[in-house]
Amino acid sequence: MKLLQASFRYPVVGITVVIFAAAMCVSSSIDPAEKPSTTATASSASTKDDGALFTAFVSVLRHPRCMSCHSRGDFPRQGDDGHPHAMNVRRGPEGHGVTAEKCSTCHQDHNLVGTHLPPGAPNWGLPPPTTPMIWQGLTDAQICRSIKDPKQNKNRNLDQLVEHLTEDKLVMWGWNPGEGRTPIPMPHEEFAAKVKQWQAAGASCPADTGNKI
Ligand code: HEC
Ligand code: HEC
Repeated sequence: MKLLQASFRYPVVGITVVIFAAAMCVSSSIDPAEKPSTTATASSASTKDDGALFTAFVSVLRHPRCMSCHSRGDFPRQGDDGHPHAMNVRRGPEGHGVTAEKCSTCHQDHNLVGTHLPPGAPNWGLPPPTTPMIWQGLTDAQICRSIKDPKQNKNRNLDQLVEHLTEDKLVMWGWNPGEGRTPIPMPHEEFAAKVKQWQAAGASCPADTGNKI
């Protein structure tokens, strides 16, 4: 019934999805070598300001739901294996796709109900090519520095970064990704509390002991 309602309310999307549904199955998987580095996730930290507070929540940023939009290449990814988005969807000049294939052609500001139907949240898209916010292949320390760097994070100060991390709709989507997709396992409250603890203790980054890529 819900599905019928969704198709009724979004007939164009419904048709588009049916047409492209088959294409979803043929995409190739991500090369294992391309998977996010996990080299620097272990931390034996005991003091409060050595970056341990960051590594306590970095697993969320490395989760496939976030990596779908924060990975290498000028395209989004799909699934827990991070395969390239079907239909050769591209980042485009603003991050919202190329003219013939805008994200908003298929993605609404909310999830459509039903497996394999497009998920959605307000401003659905990739970061722009000038600040692509790519974390795949980075060590924990590099991710930490990258999200704090105003040149890479759209001039956010720490308060704005924390607000984005804890409240932004695209981030929140990771906990409610729609039918058939794995939500982020750490409860959102716990994540938000950890981010705020990190901020309160000075938002330190871990030492860069992992591989530089
Ligand atoms: C649908 C794509 C999409 C998903 C999914 C997504 N993001 Fe983003 N993210 C973006 C876009 C687009 C921007 C840039 C928008 C802006 O700066 O306002 C961004 C910016 C950010 C930033 C700003 C700072 C920076 O340098 O990266 C952070 C932090 C962030 N996202 C965290 C997350 C986390 C954590 C998740 C998963 C829980 C997530 N995002 C999931 C698209 C996405
Ligand atoms: C022609 C339709 C279409 C276009 C255009 C499109 N998408 Fe999608 N997208 C889909 C469908 C359908 C799904 C759900 C696939 C499934 O669940 O099997 C999806 C899923 C996704 C996911 C979920 C990935 C995951 O598993 O975590 C992300 C992220 C995403 N798209 C980003 C984008 C971005 C960013 C753009 C624009 C640059 C875009 N899409 C353009 C149809 C489209």
